[in-house]
Amino acid sequence: MVKINSCVFISGRGTNLNQLLINSNSYNFPLNIKLVISNNKNAFGLKIAKKFAIPCFIINHKNSLFEEKTLTTLKTNKIDLILLAGYMKMLSKKFINTFGKKIVNIHPSLLPKFKGLNTYKNIIKTREKKTGCTVHYVNEKLDSGKIILKKSFFVENSDTIEVLKKKTQKLEYKAYSEAIIKLFNKN
Ligand code: GRF
Repeated sequence: MVKINSCVFISGRGTNLNQLLINSNSYNFPLNIKLVISNNKNAFGLKIAKKFAIPCFIINHKNSLFEEKTLTTLKTNKIDLILLAGYMKMLSKKFINTFGKKIVNIHPSLLPKFKGLNTYKNIIKTREKKTGCTVHYVNEKLDSGKIILKKSFFVENSDTIEVLKKKTQKLEYKAYSEAIIKLFNKN
């Protein structure tokens, strides 16, 4: 099995990262997660990366050279795929073009509906019947790249923001890995 050298970008809890790391330990899963990059030095996901002994690199956006430094780190580690998992910053067009390889994101709605922030709040406000998550390629526009895979469920009247988040994230853990298998598992 050829495993793709990958880097996961995070900003927060890292529960998607955790699932990707668990799956990448399996022989059949086409990811070799070599690196975790965070723009938040206090992200809980960094503790998860540490548990799996994955090297971490912290980005400081205040440093004007942060994109160049990140690109160098990706190159040094021979990274062929970036997976965004709760990474809360937009990647610039220049960064995307210079990296020049696949960048994938997971978003907690059925795109193109509910791009950006406050997804769960807006889903409840507009009384959506169905919601879910989307795995998509990243381009320079927010949550707008080509869709790879979506998974959905029916919203119940009693669903609160917290409940929706729980249901969506449970689905995300399956969706992200299925999307990766769809893209790279040529067996
Ligand atoms: C996920 O719900 C993902 O869809 C969104 O940010 C959240 C990250 O959660 N982009 P976690 O850090 O993986 O727990």
